[in-house]
Amino acid sequence: MTNRRNFLKTTLVVAGGMAISSTAFAAKKSATGINGLIYSKDNAGMWAEKVGSHAPKVEVNGNKITLTTEHGMSERHYIVRHTLVAVDGEVIGDETFYPEDPKAVSTYELAEGSKGKYFATSFCNKHDFWVTEFEI
Ligand SMILES: [Fe+2]
Repeated sequence: MTNRRNFLKTTLVVAGGMAISSTAFAAKKSATGINGLIYSKDNAGMWAEKVGSHAPKVEVNGNKITLTTEHGMSERHYIVRHTLVAVDGEVIGDETFYPEDPKAVSTYELAEGSKGKYFATSFCNKHDFWVTEFEI
């Protein structure tokens, strides 16, 4: 009987510890970016000091869209990919980068007269996934 009580006490202590740990983990996660997955200029979470070098900048010139991530490119730390996605989920285009690329810059061409909301994304191999929302 004593062994059973000890087993139950130990189980409760371990379960309580796990609950506290998972609560702390959830709180930490909720403090980071959009759902802890996607970061932006206005929601940089734990990467607040990285906004300028990670949130993709968008330049609209007629139907030509240029995405730039002002980030260094080295073998250990670089921008992996850009995408341009319409609000309905249509992927307008994407570009994958490599450490030896001089800059993370990509260009896309929209259909003439395109309007609406778009999402520019940039993925850093160390500082996660970033999005810049814009409207034309
Ligand atoms: Fe980075």
